[in-house]
Amino acid sequence: MLPFRATAVLSVYFLASFAAATPSPLDARASGTCTLTSSGSDDAPAFLKAVADSSCSTVAIPAGTTLSIQSKLNMTGTLDKHINVQGTVKFNPDIDYWTDNSFSFDFQDQAAFWLLGGKNIVLDGGGTLDGSGQAWYDEFAKHSSTVRPILFTIFQATNVTVQNIRMINGPEWINFVNEGQDITFRNISISAVSTSKNAAKNTDGWDIFRSDNVVIADSNIDNGDDCVSFKPNATNILVSNLSCNGSHGISVGSLGQYAGEYDIVQNVLATNIRMSNAQNGARIKAWAGKGVGAGLVKNITFDGFVESNVDNPVVIDQCYMTSADDCAKYPSNTYIQDVWFNK
Ligand SMILES: *[C@@H]1O[C@H](CO)[C@@H](O)[C@H](O)[C@H]1NC(C)=O
Ligand SMILES: *[C@@H]1O[C@H](CO)[C@@H](O)[C@H](O)[C@H]1NC(C)=O
Ligand SMILES: *[C@@H]1O[C@H](CO)[C@@H](O)[C@H](O)[C@H]1NC(C)=O
Ligand SMILES: *[C@@H]1O[C@H](CO)[C@@H](O)[C@H](O)[C@H]1NC(C)=O
Ligand SMILES: *[C@@H]1O[C@H](CO)[C@@H](O)[C@H](O)[C@H]1NC(C)=O
Ligand SMILES: *[C@@H]1O[C@H](CO)[C@@H](O)[C@H](O)[C@H]1NC(C)=O
Ligand SMILES: *[C@@H]1O[C@H](CO)[C@@H](O)[C@H](O)[C@H]1NC(C)=O
Repeated sequence: MLPFRATAVLSVYFLASFAAATPSPLDARASGTCTLTSSGSDDAPAFLKAVADSSCSTVAIPAGTTLSIQSKLNMTGTLDKHINVQGTVKFNPDIDYWTDNSFSFDFQDQAAFWLLGGKNIVLDGGGTLDGSGQAWYDEFAKHSSTVRPILFTIFQATNVTVQNIRMINGPEWINFVNEGQDITFRNISISAVSTSKNAAKNTDGWDIFRSDNVVIADSNIDNGDDCVSFKPNATNILVSNLSCNGSHGISVGSLGQYAGEYDIVQNVLATNIRMSNAQNGARIKAWAGKGVGAGLVKNITFDGFVESNVDNPVVIDQCYMTSADDCAKYPSNTYIQDVWFNK
């Protein structure tokens, strides 16, 4: 059944001279700002150390500095932290390393470079997160079993704001919000575009999973899959003022993929969305077939979509990834109700 209705932080810079003769990659002082510099090798240990240090209320990566990340970043359990990225955090495309060492999630066989979790965290600064995706797009074209890491993952977090950041060349999903509460993204600029013949596939802008009260606003996205996707148990979500280019749309789902699981997407408002050169505009996708899961999609509003060159402006697909025969025999167990499309 598809009922339709028309319708300052104060940065403290210390001027004291260096105590050590050799410059340390981490200039950490008693309290306040700890400034990272590039070491010429793996900068992940210094970045982890600064974020874990409660005396560094701000961890700064200055403009002009590129941190080379050559090992995974587990920043779960971070408290009261300002990560001020004015420069660049760049993930080294060592495919063998990440294949063996990235964080992994059972959900849709995802992997991640970086987990940021905990409480009361701001990540901002006008700088860039760079996933070095080209090597991954080319590798994936040769070996489709290659698991490409997500660029940025918020995991088990409450009260996190990410703003004024560019995210470029993500190998796969750009942002994953997994078990988050009260999470806000503002003024994010995403670009995941291949320069070879191999497309930047599965480069979703945001995937929201098992998370509540998430805001994504005022952002530009140029990518090759969903602009924003509401995965199982994404609730109370506001998406507003986005320009999505080249994407697969703003999507609920896919839901009902896994046997025995119950997937809820409820209370979503997506408003003021400019969708260009896209496969879809507003989309809901749920699996059918023998042995799939179940779910509920309820109270979803797509408001003020301006679409240009979009193949399917509105899609409701309850036979997602399912043949017509199987879908007829084993229809979707995901119920969809109270969906509004407003001009
Ligand atoms: C991340 O680190 C925390 C604490 O150091 C640890 O408990 C947790 O298991 C680690 N998470 C992963 C996914 O490795
Ligand atoms: C959320 O985090 C910000 C910045 O870390 C902090 O200023 C604010 O007080 C926190 N809000 C709550 C409700 O704890
Ligand atoms: C938005 O973020 C960019 C960096 O990506 C920054 O240059 C710009 O000043 C930010 N805009 C606002 C209004 O803060
Ligand atoms: C929409 O977002 C853009 C940044 O992409 C920003 O410049 C603009 O001010 C925002 N508009 C409103 C009404 O907030
Ligand atoms: C939008 O995508 C098209 C291709 O689909 C590309 O040619 C164009 O440069 C993109 N524009 C922006 C602003 O990213
Ligand atoms: C979603 O939430 C419901 C209700 O809390 C729970 O029963 C279900 O297991 C959750 N599903 C997933 C995929 O986390
Ligand atoms: C429907 O969702 C919107 C958020 O998009 C929320 O403001 C509203 O309260 C919800 N309505 C109900 C009846 O829960």
